[in-house]
Amino acid sequence: MGQNKILQANRNLSKEISRSYNAEHLFCNQIWNSYWTDIKLIDSILKNKKEPVILDVGCGTGLLSKAFLELGYTLYALDLSPDMLDLYKYPGKGKLIKICIEVEKFFEENTQKYDLIMFAASLHHIYEYKKVIRMALGMLKEDGLIFIFNEPLKKRSLLELLDAFINKLIHSPKKVIPTVYDHLFKKTSDAVLADYYLNHERLDMGWIIKEMPKIIQIHRYPLVTYSVMYQLLEKLEIKNWFSLIAQK
Ligand SMILES: C[S@@+](CC[C@H](N)C(=O)[O-])C[C@H]1O[C@@H](n2cnc3c(N)ncnc32)[C@H](O)[C@@H]1O
Repeated sequence: MGQNKILQANRNLSKEISRSYNAEHLFCNQIWNSYWTDIKLIDSILKNKKEPVILDVGCGTGLLSKAFLELGYTLYALDLSPDMLDLYKYPGKGKLIKICIEVEKFFEENTQKYDLIMFAASLHHIYEYKKVIRMALGMLKEDGLIFIFNEPLKKRSLLELLDAFINKLIHSPKKVIPTVYDHLFKKTSDAVLADYYLNHERLDMGWIIKEMPKIIQIHRYPLVTYSVMYQLLEKLEIKNWFSLIAQK
């Protein structure tokens, strides 16, 4: 599978879902508490630095990185989708600079260093994520932070598959048959390709941990769309997603 195909699938999918993105992703309730704990911890480290600068890779509509703007930080919001970036609006006290480019190219062509580089639910969209993580570490200032938030772990449970199937059945019933067809005949729609490491092999957290100079915090937690399924995952102690904060 070529990288260009994955990039194009991401452009197409983001164009298709940008308008409904915020409304559909408020499911994040399950992880909201952990998100705020992470933000507070990061803020306690960053606020001691002189004019800290943040890069949000795959920022989308800014659902998550807006928190840093509310705290007054300067934030570079990078996304390959102009449609997503158009919807990233923030009139508050921080400074927002938008960059429309794929991260792979941006990292190759730029040398600016950051105090924090964050990937919020975006790492699993990036085909060469290991290379991009190594490049991100190189773009961090000394003591800079990397924040990888809300990413799927390698293990996939049956409950999770069932949850995804029910979700599709409810929200886009017409797509259920093409999806089954895709899986049977190994064809891949933009949605399946764009969320690459959600739908194919998962992210290798062991590798990511080994790459990190100093881990500050790791969370592993259950995450699905429907609360009944969530309660089952919790009961069975199935932790299928993770977040981490590390320091250079
Ligand atoms: C699931 S959304 C996450 C958006 C946002 N970070 C959030 O948490 O709400 C993934 C985003 O990554 C972007 N993206 C995917 N591949 C990318 C790449 N190679 N370079 C830059 N952005 C990318 C997509 O356009 C999309 O906006």
